[in-house]
Amino acid sequence: MRPIALLGSTGSIGVSTLDVVAAHPERLSIVALAAGRNRELLLAQCETFRPLCVSLSSPEDAAWLAGRLSYRPELVHGAAGLMTCALLPEADTVVAAVVGAAGLASTEAALRKGKRVCVANKESLVVGGALMRQALAAGHGELLPVDSEHAALHQLLAGHPPESVREVRITASGGPFRDWDLARLQAATVAQALNHPTWKMGPKITIDSATLMNKGLEVIEASVLFGLTAGQIKVTVHPQSQVHAMVGYRDGTYHLQVCANDMKLPIQYTLLHPDQVAGPVPPYNWDASRAWTFEAPDLERFPCLGLAYRALEAGGTAPAILNAANEEAVAAFLEARIGFWGIQACVAEVLAGVAAEPAHTLEQVMAVDHHARARARTWLQQHSL
Ligand SMILES: NC(=O)c1ccc[n+]([C@@H]2O[C@H](COP(=O)([O-])OP(=O)(O)OC[C@H]3O[C@@H](n4cnc5c(N)ncnc54)[C@H](OP(=O)(O)O)[C@@H]3O)[C@@H](O)[C@H]2O)c1
Repeated sequence: MRPIALLGSTGSIGVSTLDVVAAHPERLSIVALAAGRNRELLLAQCETFRPLCVSLSSPEDAAWLAGRLSYRPELVHGAAGLMTCALLPEADTVVAAVVGAAGLASTEAALRKGKRVCVANKESLVVGGALMRQALAAGHGELLPVDSEHAALHQLLAGHPPESVREVRITASGGPFRDWDLARLQAATVAQALNHPTWKMGPKITIDSATLMNKGLEVIEASVLFGLTAGQIKVTVHPQSQVHAMVGYRDGTYHLQVCANDMKLPIQYTLLHPDQVAGPVPPYNWDASRAWTFEAPDLERFPCLGLAYRALEAGGTAPAILNAANEEAVAAFLEARIGFWGIQACVAEVLAGVAAEPAHTLEQVMAVDHHARARARTWLQQHSL
C-alpha cells in the first residue's frame, strides 16, 4: 500500500489523482489532502478518502471544515499547513499539484525527506531546478514527473545510455491560437485563450498553453529532470496531442510515446512506477481512424517559447525571473488588466531588466522571485488597460 499526501487536491491534477487512487484501492491510499480555497470540494474529498491530515489556505476555512467533517483529522492551514501535509510521516509519496511557485517549498522539503515526489508543479522545477536536484540527492528519494511529456520521456529514456541520445522532442498541441495570424492573436480575449482544443486544465496552465509559455517551462523542466542542454530539447507542434514525446538516438532512429490525452495516465505512471497495470483509462484504440500532423513552432507569434529558451541558456536564477513575471502577467490577463500580447511583453521586459545570478539557496531564489514579481507588477500597472 502506497500512502499519499496530495497537495492541490481540488485542482484539475488533484481531482484526476483521486480518480486514480479510487481505481486502485488495494495499492494506493490518501493520508493527507491540501488545497487552497475550495473548501466545499475539499470537504467532499475528505469524507470519501478520510485523510489523517487536511490543509486549507486560511484559518477561517479550516475552522469551517472542522465544523462540518464527520470525523477528526489534524486540521492545518497556510504555507505551514501545506508543509505539514508534505512531511507527514505516514505518507511515503507526495503528489505536488499546487499551481505556481507557491508549491516550491513543499516540493523541496518532500524531496529532502526522501519521499517519492510525483511533480505536476512544473514551476517548482523551473524556479528551483538545481535546488530540487540537491534535495533529491540529499534525501535519496524519487522524483517522478507527472507532466505527460516528461512522464513519456521518463519511459523512453529508461535503459538508454545518455551518450546514445541525440535529442528529445516534447510535443505541443499549439493551443487555441495555433493557426491564428499575428494581428488576431494579439487581440485575443480571455475566453478565447481559455478555450483549449485538447486538454482540460486549470486556468493558469491553459493560458500558458495559449502563449506556448507552458512548452517553454516544460523545456526547462526537461533540462532539470534529464540533465539535457537547451540545444538537445526541441518542441514539435502536434495538434492531436496523442504523441507526447520523442527521443532521437545517435543512429538516426526515434522512439515515440503514444497514449490518450488523459492526465490520469501519467499520474498513475508516477504513483505505481515501475508497474504499468490496467487503470481508469481504456487502452489506446488504434482502429479509430485519425490523422496526425507535426509542425515546427512559430516563435514570432509565440515569443514566450523563445524567452524560455533564453532563460534556460542564461541559467542560474533566470528561469525563476521568467516564471515570476509570467505568473504575474497571466494573473493580470485573467483579470483583464492587460491584453494577451501584454503577457510576452511583460515577461520579456522583466527577464531583460533583472540580472540573473547563480542559484544557491531556496531563500535566495524566493527573494529573486519576489523582486521579479515587483518589477512585473510595476510594468503591469504602467501598461494596464
Ligand atoms: N491540469 C493539467 O492537465 C496539468 C498538466 C501538467 C502539469 N500541470 C501542472 O500541475 C499544477 C496544477 O495544475 P492544475 O491545472 O491542476 O491547476 P488548478 O486546477 O488551478 O489547481 C491548482 C491547485 O492548487 C491549489 N492551490 C493554489 N494555491 C495554493 C496555495 N497557496 N496553497 C495550497 N494550495 C494551493 C488549488 O486550491 P483551490 O482550488 O482549493 O484554491 C488547487 O487545488 C500546475 O503547476 C500545472 O502547470 C497541470
